[in-house]
Amino acid sequence: MSVAIGIDLGTTNTVIAAVQNGRAVTLPDENGDKLLPSLVSFHPSGSVLVGAPAVERRLVDAENTIFSVKRLIGRNWSSQEVQQARTRFPFDLVEGAKESVLVRARGETYALPEISAFVLRRAKALAERALNDEVTHAVITVPANFNDLQRASTKVAGKLAGLEILRILNEPTAAALAYGQLMGKSERIAIYDLGGGTFDITVLDLSGAVFEVLATGGDSALGGDDIDSLIADRMADAFIRAHRFDARTNRESMGRLRIYAERLKCVLSHETIATVTLEGVAEGTGGRPLSLDFTMDREELRRSPGRCSGAPSRWRAPR
Ligand SMILES: Nc1ncnc2c1ncn2[C@@H]1O[C@H](COP(=O)(O)OP(=O)(O)OP(=O)(O)O)[C@@H](O)[C@H]1O
Ligand SMILES: [Mg+2]
Repeated sequence: MSVAIGIDLGTTNTVIAAVQNGRAVTLPDENGDKLLPSLVSFHPSGSVLVGAPAVERRLVDAENTIFSVKRLIGRNWSSQEVQQARTRFPFDLVEGAKESVLVRARGETYALPEISAFVLRRAKALAERALNDEVTHAVITVPANFNDLQRASTKVAGKLAGLEILRILNEPTAAALAYGQLMGKSERIAIYDLGGGTFDITVLDLSGAVFEVLATGGDSALGGDDIDSLIADRMADAFIRAHRFDARTNRESMGRLRIYAERLKCVLSHETIATVTLEGVAEGTGGRPLSLDFTMDREELRRSPGRCSGAPSRWRAPR
């Protein structure tokens, strides 16, 4: 028998679900983990690491460890998102045919759907292990504001991973379906989603089995990644003050600061103040490693003026 799975292919994390006994359940990996980090790392040995093993490579091999592909998939080379990513990401982006975007790692170039396909292939294998069955079909969710090219590119990634894509579903619609299934109510609801790449809101009318998307809007440059970048900027300022080294001049250094920034941000979700030691960012005279203890409290994080892209935009009518 072959089965279908649902895949939330996130900017930061991917989650896999299947319907068992009439209910959708999320599937764990062999360690019981239900979040598959959407990271792909090209190891010097030639192997391709996906998920948690790739996260570990971010600190030691940033230029060959690819993340946040969802921010760029289906976008033109000249778009603002791609040009901004070129300055922010520690790995190389190069222009492909017809203004497409390629990733360069270990001397090879990859189209963005090829990178996402590595994550989806891992998702398929993980599901097959959890379900003890062959998985051939999938539904993949995407942000409500994804355009046709972004949706088509996501579908290509699924096909490359050996999956027949039954449907590309809007993320808030998927959330509403789960809510409707669980609650069985008729009402108007708002769905907020603060993810790695995007903060968005969608208003839906739920009525029994029928749901209608009334409006959707948001900011695709206001996710957890963007909060990390703001904190990393503060860390870079502190590094200049302490050591007169500007981490912004080195993509690897900024990449490391962003990893430290995410750790600090997560600690501030349960502590009111947190300190992280910034190591491996730069070397001083004679190759002496420079480090710095950086402290931030939750109030500062709350008050920080963001560089978000302005007023929330009203997105195109969702399908
Ligand atoms: N404890 C925590 N405190 C603060 N932020 C956290 C915490 N745990 C995770 N995050 C942040 O949540 C973000 C990832 O959220 P999520 O997994 O929903 O994103 P995603 O689905 O991959 O992204 P998107 O939906 O935008 O494509 C990351 O930026 C991560 O740093
Ligand atoms: Mg998400």
